[in-house]
Amino acid sequence: MAEIRIEHLHKAFGGFTAVRDSTFTVPDGDFFCLLGPSGCGKTTTLRMIAGLELPTSGRILLGGDDVSFRRASQRDIAFVFQLFGILRITHLLDRPVAGLSSGDRQRVALGRAIVREPLAFLLDEPLGALDAEFREVMCGELRALHDRLHATTVYVTHDQLEAMSMADTIALMNGGVIEQQGTPEDIYDRPASLFAADFIGSPPMSFVPFRGRVAPGDSSVRVGGVDIALPQLREGSIDTDLVLGVRPENIALAPDAPFRAEVIDAEYLGTTQIVTLATASGASVKARIAADIRVQPGEHTGLTLRPAKLSLFDQRSGRALRTALHDGAAHG
Ligand SMILES: Nc1ncnc2c1ncn2[C@@H]1O[C@H](COP(=O)(O)OP(=O)(O)OP(=O)(O)O)[C@@H](O)[C@H]1O
Ligand SMILES: [Mg+2]
Repeated sequence: MAEIRIEHLHKAFGGFTAVRDSTFTVPDGDFFCLLGPSGCGKTTTLRMIAGLELPTSGRILLGGDDVSFRRASQRDIAFVFQLFGILRITHLLDRPVAGLSSGDRQRVALGRAIVREPLAFLLDEPLGALDAEFREVMCGELRALHDRLHATTVYVTHDQLEAMSMADTIALMNGGVIEQQGTPEDIYDRPASLFAADFIGSPPMSFVPFRGRVAPGDSSVRVGGVDIALPQLREGSIDTDLVLGVRPENIALAPDAPFRAEVIDAEYLGTTQIVTLATASGASVKARIAADIRVQPGEHTGLTLRPAKLSLFDQRSGRALRTALHDGAAHG
């Protein structure tokens, strides 16, 4: 197995840039997810790693060898597209492929790839065609297989739950650009941008826009006349449009808290419920709270936000401001 290093990779189709200045490293043995919305350049990136597409510029190193302009057949990489099942396939491995159903063909393709011990596996939305239940089973199986083989794997998906549950490392792409790279925890707890905060999590992070200025060392912001504590800021801003970001599980309802909101509705989920609220300034936020707390649409309440878990963004650039949350962690 081998490390994959991508350096300033760029791909243009005529005047259109599909992948822009992409730089990342897939460590040897890593389960690496390329995650992002449709059209963001995931497949194009994967095809360049496989050698099915040549980069416009940039380099691809496989185990330290520059393979940027080598043909697919010279790269010793296994590319698996859709995959319907990888269980119980040993009895199929030496049968002619022509006699197999398309599902079995996929299983055999992966089985043969595993037997061949390539330097890396590339999988492009392999579970795309599966229903939710079987997909979950297959996620578990693929991860278990990876834990046995420790094969360097680049896995493409647009499904954040798939990426969050399987990846060692996620590279989140948007419009041909890598927005953020890190562990699932990094990206969930320390989103580098509004895009990352919104793309990851279901429901996604809630945003409370406000006007303000902050200075390094501040450990609260003033939103609608209420001081809200957050991790100590490591950088400041001019007076500008800022956005406070909070995950639903970090909001609690507290009737007397000064940060006021009105209940819009509640979605019952069994052990928890997702309550949608409108803050005094009109921002819509979602709180995940215990299912047995009774809430009524139209009811006014206070909100408390867990200080250690809050993010702060610059509205215009979309980037997160550095805070104590990022101390010792990779940023961006
Ligand atoms: N051969 C091509 N010629 C022209 N444009 C292309 C070509 N291949 C891809 N593109 C464009 O490049 C962009 C990125 O495509 P790509 O297939 O990499 O996206 P993706 O992230 O894999 O999306 P999806 O989730 O829909 O599979 C898209 O806008 C696509 O239309
Ligand atoms: Mg694709």
